[in-house]
Amino acid sequence: MMTGNFPIEQWEGVDTPFYYYDLSILDSTLQELNTRINQFPAAAVHYAVKACATPEILRRIAAAGIGADCVSGGEIRAAIEAGIRPDKIVFAGVAKADWEIEYAIKHGIFCFNVESQAEVEVIDQIAGQLGAQPRICLRINPQVDAHTHAKITTGMKENKFGIQMSDLEEAVQDVVQRPNLSFAGLHFHIGSQITDMQVFATLCERINELVERAQQIAPVQHINVGGGLGILYEHPNHFPIPDFQGYFDTYQKGLKVQPGQTVHFELGRSIVAQCGNLITRVLYVKKGEQKQFAIVDAGMTDLMRPALYGAFHRIENLSNPDAEEETYDIVGPICESSDVFVEGYQIAKVQRGDILAIRSAGAYGEVMASQYNLRRLPGHVVSSLK
Ligand code: LLP
Repeated sequence: MMTGNFPIEQWEGVDTPFYYYDLSILDSTLQELNTRINQFPAAAVHYAVKACATPEILRRIAAAGIGADCVSGGEIRAAIEAGIRPDKIVFAGVAKADWEIEYAIKHGIFCFNVESQAEVEVIDQIAGQLGAQPRICLRINPQVDAHTHAKITTGMKENKFGIQMSDLEEAVQDVVQRPNLSFAGLHFHIGSQITDMQVFATLCERINELVERAQQIAPVQHINVGGGLGILYEHPNHFPIPDFQGYFDTYQKGLKVQPGQTVHFELGRSIVAQCGNLITRVLYVKKGEQKQFAIVDAGMTDLMRPALYGAFHRIENLSNPDAEEETYDIVGPICESSDVFVEGYQIAKVQRGDILAIRSAGAYGEVMASQYNLRRLPGHVVSSLK
């Protein structure tokens, strides 16, 4: 069985489970991303910190000159501490608390992505008290179907995110007439793990209409198209770098960008997913009547995606990659029947003590870990830099 490149001999004595981040993959990804952004006129990328906030990873992203998309005061703090300039930070989220709004304004972030008119009012008040005039992008729900997992689709009508399209004019007008706010533009995000570029092309058409409508009221300087570019979970070894070219080309072709406008992207998963892996050890092999189980020491508390979304992650046996393949359900230790990484999976025969890598786990992996069953949070190991 083909496996990725792992320094397994360096892991003697490291407690499993832990996340292993391969910085050479992260660096190649960032390099490709920067090449493509540089070809796009007037673009800015804000890394969606929610995907992975591990300090070493954030620092590399900061060093590559990428900004941040944050959804909490904690993420804004982490981004700034990692070296991301506040004037490259955008702040989204449906439920910004007053202290978070104040914190963001005091740090001089670039822009608020605002999700409701009720929020506009609160930001206006707080800005007034602080004598500031923050930039506001209104998040409009564009009703474009992302054709992705139902739990990670956000751009459809019955959704807590964003402002309804029919309220666009009223909402823009409202921001424009408030002295403590500066209307900057529109924000969109329709979902995550999107690999069909046609979806983004459809989004572009809708954005063009909405920007035109907003322009009737006030200049739209910033168009934030959100994130959502997917990765190939089945093929971390063959396609470790996402299709940034196809993604940016789609926007370049589809979006009508006027002189003076900047296009903002909020990519999360595509930047960090393939550099991260959850490393786990086989504790027991248990033979059932028709199945056999490989019971590992990582569980849904360490990587929640399979249990929560039925997500697939490739798993490799790093200790015995060349053993004959057998079929297993690979399961964790948590007292929940949904604590299953994969069912009926073929992998090089495993034995107690073998080290397995659960691949493509850099995004929405470590950050979503919990202590359910009073487990320890997984640690992480970062590859040494070349
Ligand atoms: N911008 C906004 C407003 C978002 O809500 C998100 C992700 C992003 C950007 C970044 O999207 P990305 O480029 O990573 O697709 N935990 C789920 C994914 C949740 C995505 C939430 N929003 C998962 O493990 O698949």
